[in-house]
Amino acid sequence: MAYFRDNIERMAGYVPGFQPKQTDVVKLNTNENPYPPSPAVLEAIRTTTAEQLRRYPDPVGDVFRRAAAGVLDVQPENLCCTNGGDDLLNIVVRACCDAGRPAAFIQPTYSLYPVLAAIQSCPTIEIDRNAPDALAQLAQADAALTMICNPNAPTCELLPIDALAALASKLSGVLLIDEAYADFADDNALRLVREFTNVIVLRSMSKGYSLAGLRFGFAAADPALIEGLMKVRDSYAVDVLALRAATAAITDQTYFKENILKIKAERRRLTEALRQLGLDVPDSQTNFVLARCVGKDAEAVFKALAKEQIYVRYFDLPGLEDQLRITVGTPEQNDKLLAALNPILQG
Ligand SMILES: Cc1ncc(COP(=O)(O)O)c(C=O)c1O
Repeated sequence: MAYFRDNIERMAGYVPGFQPKQTDVVKLNTNENPYPPSPAVLEAIRTTTAEQLRRYPDPVGDVFRRAAAGVLDVQPENLCCTNGGDDLLNIVVRACCDAGRPAAFIQPTYSLYPVLAAIQSCPTIEIDRNAPDALAQLAQADAALTMICNPNAPTCELLPIDALAALASKLSGVLLIDEAYADFADDNALRLVREFTNVIVLRSMSKGYSLAGLRFGFAAADPALIEGLMKVRDSYAVDVLALRAATAAITDQTYFKENILKIKAERRRLTEALRQLGLDVPDSQTNFVLARCVGKDAEAVFKALAKEQIYVRYFDLPGLEDQLRITVGTPEQNDKLLAALNPILQG
């Protein structure tokens, strides 16, 4: 007998971006923040006591919920802490979907969504992003779970929040708005949490707050939805160190805002410079850009950069084969990338 359920045997797992062992490389492939977290984060980790580690953490993470609620203008009861944004996606798919309860999303989008659906034996309804009526098609599908990544990965654009509100009002199931990159965008959907009982907003501390290594994310939603998610989540989903560190990070808004401004400035400069090199680069609302290699083989460019220890992301997926996803780095990292790209693109 096979050890796993049929669909697990058949499915392909999610492939995370390459994590090189060396640190002296230009790593622009997994949308990490190029700057360190706030010094308050390291202090919070350093001052954690043995007694705090001996005991289980607060199951709901109230210290973080209170701090985040103040910053985001929601109530602590609107928030559920998770072990990264991916953990929240996993929890929501497990809570909402099964063989008779499909998940719907637009393609291309975050490639984890179909993987989580496959684990749950849940059918997917996948709608072409370029269809002029893509949101209407999602409304029409009225799946048990509709997932929208906004701003979208890897295409970088932001859908108007009013359009998401209209979608939420038409759905009888849950609308999950994945805002992993909202810290870099001009708008966000948090206000919909107050308006709709079926909206879950996902936030991650990995990108805007430079804490990808810590694993901390959270949901913002109506308290009834939060209670449902709490039933499915691990009872001690986030550990003491993560709670203390994430609380310190979200409390230090001055540091956070300065960091975001630096990344947005570099995003503008990088976009312009890549365009000058002949790549087709739409404006981005995230901490990465998606560059179409006009007249060049994107995979070959990706490999040539990797030879120089400059790592970007190439997806061998329909609609993305001619593009590279490039995380916005520090000015020095971006300069190295641009200097290396020049001869590769001329060649
Ligand atoms: C669109 C999107 N959603 C969610 C996540 C999850 O982020 P994390 O689990 O690091 O919080 C990511 C990570 O890259 C992402 O790109």
